[in-house]
Amino acid sequence: MNILVLGSGGRECTIAWKLAQSAQCGNLFVAPGNAGTIKYAKNIDLNPNDFVAVKNAVIENNVQMVVVGPEDPLVNGIHDFFLDDEHLKLVPVIGPQKYAAQLEGSKEFAKEFMYRHDIPTAQYQSFTVDSLKEGQEFLETLQPPYVLKADGLAAGKGVLILDDLNEAKSELEEMLGHKKFGAASSKVVIEEFLDGIEMSSFVLTDSENYVILPNAKDYKRIGEGDVGLNTGGMGAVSPVPFADEEFLSKVENRVIKPTIEGLKKDNIPYVGFIFIGLIRVNNEPYVIEYNVRMGDPETEVVIPRIQSDLVELFRATTEKRLDEFDLNIDGRSATTVMLVSGGYPEAYEKGKEIKGLEEIDNSIVFHAGTKLSEDKVITSGGRVLAVTSYGADFRSALKQSYDNIDKIHFDKMNYRKDIGFDL
Ligand code: AMP
Ligand code: GLY
Repeated sequence: MNILVLGSGGRECTIAWKLAQSAQCGNLFVAPGNAGTIKYAKNIDLNPNDFVAVKNAVIENNVQMVVVGPEDPLVNGIHDFFLDDEHLKLVPVIGPQKYAAQLEGSKEFAKEFMYRHDIPTAQYQSFTVDSLKEGQEFLETLQPPYVLKADGLAAGKGVLILDDLNEAKSELEEMLGHKKFGAASSKVVIEEFLDGIEMSSFVLTDSENYVILPNAKDYKRIGEGDVGLNTGGMGAVSPVPFADEEFLSKVENRVIKPTIEGLKKDNIPYVGFIFIGLIRVNNEPYVIEYNVRMGDPETEVVIPRIQSDLVELFRATTEKRLDEFDLNIDGRSATTVMLVSGGYPEAYEKGKEIKGLEEIDNSIVFHAGTKLSEDKVITSGGRVLAVTSYGADFRSALKQSYDNIDKIHFDKMNYRKDIGFDL
Protein backbone atom coordinates (compact mmCIF):
# COMPACT_ATOMS: atom_id res chain seq x y z
CA MET A 1 0.00 0.00 0.00
CA ASN A 2 1.36 3.43 -0.96
CA ILE A 3 0.91 5.92 1.86
CA LEU A 4 1.22 9.70 2.12
CA VAL A 5 1.80 11.35 5.50
CA LEU A 6 1.05 15.10 5.62
CA GLY A 7 3.19 17.32 7.85
CA SER A 8 6.80 18.09 8.64
CA GLY A 9 7.42 17.68 12.36
CA GLY A 10 8.65 15.12 14.85
CA ARG A 11 5.17 13.60 14.88
CA GLU A 12 5.22 12.91 11.15
CA CYS A 13 8.81 11.63 11.31
CA THR A 14 7.74 9.13 13.97
CA ILE A 15 4.68 8.00 12.03
CA ALA A 16 6.84 7.52 8.92
CA TRP A 17 9.46 5.57 10.94
CA LYS A 18 6.77 3.19 12.17
CA LEU A 19 4.89 2.81 8.87
CA ALA A 20 8.15 2.03 7.07
CA GLN A 21 8.66 -0.99 9.35
CA SER A 22 5.52 -2.67 7.99
CA ALA A 23 5.76 -5.35 5.29
CA GLN A 24 2.49 -3.89 3.96
CA CYS A 25 4.00 -0.47 3.37
CA GLY A 26 4.68 0.12 -0.31
CA ASN A 27 5.95 3.53 -1.38
CA LEU A 28 5.88 5.93 1.53
CA PHE A 29 5.71 9.71 1.08
CA VAL A 30 5.86 12.59 3.55
CA ALA A 31 4.79 16.07 2.49
CA PRO A 32 6.63 18.30 3.03
CA GLY A 33 8.70 16.22 5.52
CA ASN A 34 12.14 17.09 6.84
CA ALA A 35 15.73 15.82 6.82
CA GLY A 36 14.72 12.88 9.03
CA THR A 37 11.74 11.62 7.05
CA ILE A 38 14.02 11.07 4.03
CA LYS A 39 15.40 8.01 5.84
CA TYR A 40 12.01 6.29 5.68
CA ALA A 41 10.12 7.97 2.86
CA LYS A 42 10.28 10.20 -0.18
CA ASN A 43 9.61 13.84 0.65
CA ILE A 44 7.19 15.79 -1.52
CA ASP A 45 7.56 19.55 -1.28
CA LEU A 46 4.01 20.83 -0.87
CA ASN A 47 1.88 22.67 1.66
CA PRO A 48 -0.68 20.29 3.27
CA ASN A 49 -3.25 23.11 3.19
CA ASP A 50 -2.98 23.30 -0.61
CA PHE A 51 -5.51 20.56 -1.29
CA VAL A 52 -5.06 20.68 -5.07
CA ALA A 53 -1.34 20.07 -4.64
CA VAL A 54 -2.14 17.16 -2.30
CA LYS A 55 -4.57 15.78 -4.89
CA ASN A 56 -1.95 15.92 -7.64
CA ALA A 57 0.60 14.17 -5.41
CA VAL A 58 -1.92 11.43 -4.58
CA ILE A 59 -2.77 10.79 -8.20
CA GLU A 60 0.80 11.02 -9.52
CA ASN A 61 2.12 8.60 -6.92
CA ASN A 62 -0.83 6.22 -6.79
CA VAL A 63 -1.28 6.91 -3.07
CA GLN A 64 -3.74 4.52 -1.42
CA MET A 65 -4.00 6.08 2.05
CA VAL A 66 -3.41 9.55 3.50
CA VAL A 67 -2.46 10.15 7.13
CA VAL A 68 -2.96 13.76 8.23
CA GLY A 69 -0.47 14.85 10.91
CA PRO A 70 -1.38 18.44 11.91
CA GLU A 71 -4.79 19.92 12.73
CA ASP A 72 -5.10 22.75 10.23
CA PRO A 73 -5.70 20.69 7.07
CA LEU A 74 -8.38 18.79 9.04
CA VAL A 75 -10.01 21.96 10.35
CA ASN A 76 -9.83 23.32 6.77
CA GLY A 77 -11.66 20.23 5.49
CA ILE A 78 -9.10 18.04 3.72
CA HIS A 79 -11.05 14.87 4.45
CA ASP A 80 -14.26 16.42 3.02
CA PHE A 81 -12.27 17.52 -0.04
CA PHE A 82 -11.28 13.89 -0.62
CA LEU A 83 -14.85 12.62 -0.18
CA ASP A 84 -16.18 15.22 -2.60
CA ASP A 85 -13.65 14.51 -5.33
CA GLU A 86 -14.35 11.94 -8.04
CA HIS A 87 -10.70 10.81 -8.14
CA LEU A 88 -10.01 10.86 -4.42
CA LYS A 89 -13.17 9.60 -2.77
CA LEU A 90 -11.93 6.02 -2.54
CA VAL A 91 -8.62 7.02 -0.97
CA PRO A 92 -9.03 6.61 2.79
CA VAL A 93 -7.94 9.44 5.04
CA ILE A 94 -6.84 9.08 8.67
CA GLY A 95 -8.20 12.24 10.29
CA PRO A 96 -11.76 13.49 10.84
CA GLN A 97 -13.90 15.61 8.56
CA LYS A 98 -14.29 19.34 8.98
CA TYR A 99 -17.40 19.23 11.16
CA ALA A 100 -15.83 16.88 13.72
CA ALA A 101 -12.53 18.77 13.57
CA GLN A 102 -14.32 21.61 15.34
CA LEU A 103 -13.67 19.62 18.51
CA GLU A 104 -10.24 21.19 18.20
CA GLY A 105 -11.05 24.13 15.94
CA SER A 106 -13.64 25.67 18.27
CA LYS A 107 -13.39 25.62 22.07
CA GLU A 108 -17.09 26.47 22.30
CA PHE A 109 -18.06 23.58 20.02
CA ALA A 110 -15.98 21.24 22.22
CA LYS A 111 -17.51 22.58 25.43
CA GLU A 112 -21.05 22.22 24.07
CA PHE A 113 -20.25 18.66 23.01
CA MET A 114 -18.95 17.82 26.49
CA TYR A 115 -21.93 19.38 28.24
CA ARG A 116 -24.36 17.58 25.93
CA HIS A 117 -22.79 14.20 26.67
CA ASP A 118 -22.03 14.68 30.37
CA ILE A 119 -18.29 14.55 29.93
CA PRO A 120 -16.54 16.11 32.95
CA THR A 121 -14.97 19.48 32.13
CA ALA A 122 -14.55 22.92 33.72
CA GLN A 123 -17.66 25.11 33.85
CA TYR A 124 -17.66 27.88 31.27
CA GLN A 125 -19.44 30.65 29.43
CA SER A 126 -18.60 32.13 26.06
CA PHE A 127 -18.65 35.74 24.94
CA THR A 128 -18.32 37.85 21.79
CA VAL A 129 -17.56 41.54 21.32
CA ASP A 130 -21.28 42.26 21.77
CA SER A 131 -21.26 40.62 25.19
CA LEU A 132 -17.88 41.98 26.35
CA LYS A 133 -19.47 43.76 29.30
CA GLU A 134 -21.28 40.58 30.42
CA GLY A 135 -17.97 38.73 30.08
CA GLN A 136 -16.25 41.20 32.37
CA GLU A 137 -19.10 40.90 34.87
CA PHE A 138 -18.85 37.11 34.67
CA LEU A 139 -15.14 37.36 35.54
CA GLU A 140 -16.13 39.23 38.72
CA THR A 141 -18.15 36.20 39.85
CA LEU A 142 -15.14 33.84 39.53
CA GLN A 143 -12.21 33.14 41.81
CA PRO A 144 -8.71 33.68 40.40
CA PRO A 145 -6.85 32.44 38.44
CA TYR A 146 -8.96 33.34 35.40
CA VAL A 147 -8.84 31.12 32.30
CA LEU A 148 -9.53 32.87 28.96
CA LYS A 149 -9.51 30.83 25.77
CA ALA A 150 -9.70 32.10 22.21
CA ASP A 151 -12.39 30.00 20.55
CA GLY A 152 -10.46 29.23 17.35
CA LEU A 153 -7.04 27.82 16.43
CA ALA A 154 -4.27 30.07 17.71
CA ALA A 155 -1.19 27.83 17.29
CA GLY A 156 -1.26 26.82 20.94
CA LYS A 157 -1.09 30.43 22.16
CA GLY A 158 -4.78 31.19 22.61
CA VAL A 159 -5.14 30.31 26.30
CA LEU A 160 -4.40 32.92 28.98
CA ILE A 161 -4.31 32.14 32.69
CA LEU A 162 -4.29 35.29 34.79
CA ASP A 163 -4.20 35.93 38.53
CA ASP A 164 -5.41 39.51 38.50
CA LEU A 165 -9.05 40.42 37.85
CA ASN A 166 -8.30 43.75 36.16
CA GLU A 167 -5.73 42.15 33.93
CA ALA A 168 -8.23 39.42 33.03
CA LYS A 169 -10.82 42.07 32.14
CA SER A 170 -8.44 44.02 29.97
CA GLU A 171 -7.14 40.86 28.24
CA LEU A 172 -10.74 39.91 27.51
CA GLU A 173 -11.16 43.30 25.88
CA GLU A 174 -7.92 42.79 23.91
CA MET A 175 -9.11 39.42 22.67
CA LEU A 176 -12.68 40.40 21.76
CA GLY A 177 -12.39 44.08 20.98
CA HIS A 178 -8.90 44.21 19.46
CA LYS A 179 -8.68 40.69 18.04
CA LYS A 180 -5.53 39.83 19.97
CA PHE A 181 -5.52 36.38 18.32
CA GLY A 182 -7.16 37.52 15.06
CA ALA A 183 -10.40 35.82 14.07
CA ALA A 184 -9.61 33.03 16.57
CA SER A 185 -10.52 35.37 19.43
CA SER A 186 -13.73 36.80 17.97
CA LYS A 187 -15.30 34.51 20.56
CA VAL A 188 -13.77 33.77 23.97
CA VAL A 189 -14.53 30.92 26.36
CA ILE A 190 -14.05 31.85 30.02
CA GLU A 191 -13.76 28.84 32.25
CA GLU A 192 -13.32 27.73 35.79
CA PHE A 193 -9.68 27.08 36.72
CA LEU A 194 -8.95 23.45 37.54
CA ASP A 195 -6.03 22.73 39.84
CA GLY A 196 -4.40 19.38 39.20
CA ILE A 197 -1.85 17.42 37.22
CA GLU A 198 -2.24 16.99 33.46
CA MET A 199 -1.86 14.00 31.17
CA SER A 200 -3.20 12.98 27.78
CA SER A 201 -5.08 9.99 26.44
CA PHE A 202 -4.94 8.96 22.80
CA VAL A 203 -7.71 7.10 21.04
CA LEU A 204 -8.00 5.85 17.48
CA THR A 205 -11.56 5.40 16.25
CA ASP A 206 -13.19 4.12 13.07
CA SER A 207 -16.54 5.81 13.95
CA GLU A 208 -17.93 2.58 15.44
CA ASN A 209 -15.10 1.11 17.54
CA TYR A 210 -12.02 2.49 19.22
CA VAL A 211 -8.65 1.43 20.59
CA ILE A 212 -6.88 3.22 23.40
CA LEU A 213 -3.26 3.97 22.62
CA PRO A 214 -0.55 4.50 25.26
CA ASN A 215 -1.07 7.62 27.37
CA ALA A 216 1.54 10.35 27.78
CA LYS A 217 2.41 13.56 29.55
CA ASP A 218 4.14 16.43 27.82
CA TYR A 219 6.04 19.45 29.12
CA LYS A 220 4.79 22.58 27.38
CA ARG A 221 6.71 25.39 29.07
CA ILE A 222 10.14 26.47 27.83
CA GLY A 223 11.65 26.74 31.32
CA GLU A 224 12.68 24.11 33.83
CA GLY A 225 10.14 23.64 36.62
CA ASP A 226 7.37 24.47 34.11
CA VAL A 227 7.97 28.21 33.96
CA GLY A 228 8.09 30.68 31.07
CA LEU A 229 6.35 30.75 27.72
CA ASN A 230 4.33 27.90 26.25
CA THR A 231 5.95 25.93 23.45
CA GLY A 232 4.63 23.17 21.23
CA GLY A 233 6.11 20.78 23.79
CA MET A 234 9.62 20.21 25.15
CA GLY A 235 9.49 16.53 26.03
CA ALA A 236 7.17 13.68 26.90
CA VAL A 237 6.88 10.53 28.98
CA SER A 238 4.77 7.40 28.37
CA PRO A 239 3.16 5.78 30.26
CA VAL A 240 2.25 8.38 32.88
CA PRO A 241 3.24 6.87 36.26
CA PHE A 242 0.38 8.39 38.26
CA ALA A 243 -2.25 7.09 35.82
CA ASP A 244 -3.00 3.83 37.61
CA GLU A 245 -5.59 1.27 36.59
CA GLU A 246 -8.34 2.87 38.68
CA PHE A 247 -7.79 6.31 37.18
CA LEU A 248 -7.51 4.95 33.63
CA SER A 249 -10.75 3.06 34.01
CA LYS A 250 -12.42 6.34 35.05
CA VAL A 251 -10.93 7.96 31.97
CA GLU A 252 -12.33 5.22 29.75
CA ASN A 253 -15.78 5.11 31.33
CA ARG A 254 -16.37 8.80 31.99
CA VAL A 255 -14.51 10.35 29.08
CA ILE A 256 -13.57 8.01 26.23
CA LYS A 257 -16.77 5.97 25.97
CA PRO A 258 -19.08 9.02 26.26
CA THR A 259 -16.96 10.78 23.64
CA ILE A 260 -17.29 7.94 21.11
CA GLU A 261 -20.97 7.44 21.98
CA GLY A 262 -21.55 11.20 21.79
CA LEU A 263 -20.13 11.34 18.27
CA LYS A 264 -22.47 8.53 17.27
CA LYS A 265 -25.52 10.14 18.92
CA ASP A 266 -24.73 13.41 17.18
CA ASN A 267 -24.27 11.57 13.86
CA ILE A 268 -20.73 12.84 13.51
CA PRO A 269 -18.54 10.42 11.56
CA TYR A 270 -15.00 10.28 12.91
CA VAL A 271 -12.09 8.30 11.48
CA GLY A 272 -8.83 9.17 13.14
CA PHE A 273 -7.07 10.06 16.33
CA ILE A 274 -8.65 11.79 19.30
CA PHE A 275 -6.13 13.37 21.65
CA ILE A 276 -7.81 14.10 24.97
CA GLY A 277 -6.02 16.57 27.23
CA LEU A 278 -6.96 15.67 30.81
CA ILE A 279 -6.42 17.11 34.23
CA ARG A 280 -6.68 15.02 37.38
CA VAL A 281 -8.48 16.77 40.22
CA ASN A 282 -9.15 14.75 43.42
CA ASN A 283 -8.39 11.60 41.42
CA GLU A 284 -11.15 12.45 38.91
CA PRO A 285 -10.46 13.12 35.22
CA TYR A 286 -11.65 16.39 33.61
CA VAL A 287 -11.23 17.21 29.94
CA ILE A 288 -9.15 20.32 29.26
CA GLU A 289 -9.28 20.01 25.50
CA TYR A 290 -9.78 17.75 22.51
CA ASN A 291 -7.37 17.63 19.62
CA VAL A 292 -8.27 15.85 16.42
CA ARG A 293 -4.76 14.54 15.72
CA MET A 294 -1.84 13.09 17.61
CA GLY A 295 0.26 15.29 19.90
CA ASP A 296 3.76 16.44 19.19
CA PRO A 297 6.03 15.41 21.03
CA GLU A 298 3.61 12.84 22.53
CA THR A 299 3.68 10.85 19.26
CA GLU A 300 7.43 10.41 19.72
CA VAL A 301 6.73 8.29 22.83
CA VAL A 302 3.28 6.84 22.04
CA ILE A 303 4.02 5.36 18.59
CA PRO A 304 7.33 3.73 19.63
CA ARG A 305 5.42 1.83 22.34
CA ILE A 306 2.98 0.37 19.80
CA GLN A 307 4.30 -3.06 18.80
CA SER A 308 1.47 -3.82 16.37
CA ASP A 309 1.88 -3.10 12.68
CA LEU A 310 0.82 0.52 12.07
CA VAL A 311 -0.29 -0.06 8.45
CA GLU A 312 -2.55 -2.87 9.68
CA LEU A 313 -3.86 -0.65 12.46
CA PHE A 314 -4.67 2.13 9.98
CA ARG A 315 -6.29 -0.33 7.56
CA ALA A 316 -8.45 -1.69 10.36
CA THR A 317 -9.42 1.92 11.11
CA THR A 318 -10.42 2.86 7.58
CA GLU A 319 -12.22 -0.49 7.10
CA LYS A 320 -14.16 -0.19 10.42
CA ARG A 321 -12.54 -3.30 11.86
CA LEU A 322 -10.96 -1.86 15.01
CA ASP A 323 -13.09 -4.19 17.15
CA GLU A 324 -11.08 -7.11 15.75
CA PHE A 325 -7.72 -5.45 16.21
CA ASP A 326 -5.38 -6.83 18.82
CA LEU A 327 -3.23 -3.89 19.89
CA ASN A 328 0.13 -4.87 21.39
CA ILE A 329 1.90 -2.34 23.58
CA ASP A 330 5.52 -2.40 24.69
CA GLY A 331 5.57 -2.59 28.50
CA ARG A 332 8.67 -0.41 28.75
CA SER A 333 8.61 3.32 29.30
CA ALA A 334 9.51 5.70 26.49
CA THR A 335 10.65 9.28 26.93
CA THR A 336 11.56 12.01 24.50
CA VAL A 337 13.50 15.23 24.97
CA MET A 338 13.16 18.04 22.43
CA LEU A 339 16.24 19.91 21.30
CA VAL A 340 15.21 23.42 20.32
CA SER A 341 16.79 26.50 18.75
CA GLY A 342 18.06 29.11 21.24
CA GLY A 343 15.40 31.82 21.64
CA TYR A 344 12.44 29.55 20.81
CA PRO A 345 9.46 30.03 21.34
CA GLU A 346 10.34 33.63 20.55
CA ALA A 347 12.63 34.67 17.69
CA TYR A 348 15.43 32.23 16.87
CA GLU A 349 18.01 31.65 14.14
CA LYS A 350 17.87 28.87 11.56
CA GLY A 351 20.43 27.20 9.34
CA LYS A 352 22.74 25.88 12.08
CA GLU A 353 24.63 22.72 11.22
CA ILE A 354 23.71 19.73 13.42
CA LYS A 355 26.59 17.48 14.42
CA GLY A 356 26.92 14.18 16.25
CA LEU A 357 23.81 12.41 14.92
CA GLU A 358 25.85 9.41 13.73
CA GLU A 359 27.16 8.82 17.26
CA ILE A 360 23.78 8.12 18.84
CA ASP A 361 23.26 4.65 20.19
CA ASN A 362 20.24 3.18 21.91
CA SER A 363 18.03 6.19 21.27
CA ILE A 364 15.98 7.16 18.24
CA VAL A 365 16.36 10.67 16.92
CA PHE A 366 13.17 11.92 15.27
CA HIS A 367 13.66 15.06 13.21
CA ALA A 368 11.33 18.05 13.56
CA GLY A 369 12.71 21.39 12.30
CA THR A 370 15.55 20.13 10.11
CA LYS A 371 16.45 20.19 6.45
CA LEU A 372 19.23 19.02 4.22
CA SER A 373 21.59 21.59 2.77
CA GLU A 374 23.92 19.84 0.35
CA ASP A 375 24.84 16.84 2.48
CA LYS A 376 24.57 18.62 5.83
CA VAL A 377 21.64 18.48 8.23
CA ILE A 378 20.77 22.02 9.35
CA THR A 379 18.15 23.51 11.66
CA SER A 380 15.03 24.97 10.05
CA GLY A 381 12.59 25.45 12.94
CA GLY A 382 12.13 26.10 16.65
CA ARG A 383 11.80 22.50 17.68
CA VAL A 384 14.64 20.68 15.94
CA LEU A 385 15.06 17.07 17.12
CA ALA A 386 13.28 14.71 19.51
CA VAL A 387 15.54 12.17 21.22
CA THR A 388 13.46 9.14 22.24
CA SER A 389 14.61 6.24 24.41
CA TYR A 390 13.12 3.20 26.08
CA GLY A 391 13.77 2.09 29.65
CA ALA A 392 12.45 -0.15 32.41
CA ASP A 393 11.05 3.07 33.91
CA PHE A 394 10.89 6.67 32.72
CA ARG A 395 13.99 7.65 34.68
CA SER A 396 16.25 5.12 32.98
CA ALA A 397 14.74 6.01 29.60
CA LEU A 398 15.41 9.70 30.26
CA LYS A 399 19.00 9.03 31.30
CA GLN A 400 19.53 7.28 27.97
CA SER A 401 18.14 10.28 26.06
CA TYR A 402 20.25 12.75 28.04
CA ASP A 403 23.42 10.65 27.57
CA ASN A 404 22.87 10.73 23.82
CA ILE A 405 22.00 14.43 23.78
CA ASP A 406 25.51 15.08 25.10
CA LYS A 407 26.79 13.87 21.72
CA ILE A 408 24.58 16.20 19.64
CA HIS A 409 25.49 19.79 18.95
CA PHE A 410 24.25 22.83 17.08
CA ASP A 411 24.85 26.50 17.78
CA LYS A 412 22.53 27.82 20.56
CA MET A 413 20.95 24.38 21.13
CA ASN A 414 18.59 24.40 24.13
CA TYR A 415 16.61 21.72 25.92
CA ARG A 416 14.94 21.04 29.25
CA LYS A 417 17.04 18.97 31.61
CA ASP A 418 14.12 18.24 33.94
CA ILE A 419 11.57 16.31 31.85
CA GLY A 420 9.54 14.18 34.28
CA PHE A 421 10.50 16.36 37.26
CA ASP A 422 6.96 16.29 38.68
CA LEU A 423 6.35 12.57 38.40
P1 AMP B 1 -5.65 24.21 25.99
O1 AMP B 1 -5.15 24.90 24.76
O2 AMP B 1 -7.14 24.27 26.15
O3 AMP B 1 -5.08 22.83 26.13
O4 AMP B 1 -5.00 25.00 27.23
C1 AMP B 1 -3.62 25.14 27.32
C2 AMP B 1 -3.17 24.87 28.72
O5 AMP B 1 -3.82 25.76 29.62
C3 AMP B 1 -3.53 23.49 29.24
O6 AMP B 1 -2.59 22.52 28.87
C4 AMP B 1 -3.57 23.72 30.73
O7 AMP B 1 -2.26 23.71 31.28
C5 AMP B 1 -4.08 25.11 30.86
N1 AMP B 1 -5.54 25.11 31.08
C6 AMP B 1 -6.52 25.15 30.16
N2 AMP B 1 -7.74 25.15 30.71
C7 AMP B 1 -7.55 25.12 32.04
C8 AMP B 1 -8.43 25.11 33.17
N3 AMP B 1 -9.76 25.15 33.04
N4 AMP B 1 -7.87 25.06 34.38
C9 AMP B 1 -6.53 25.04 34.54
N5 AMP B 1 -5.65 25.06 33.53
C10 AMP B 1 -6.15 25.09 32.28
N1 GLY C 1 2.09 18.73 22.65
C1 GLY C 1 0.83 19.31 22.58
C2 GLY C 1 0.17 19.25 21.28
O1 GLY C 1 0.57 18.55 20.37
O2 GLY C 1 -0.86 19.92 21.14
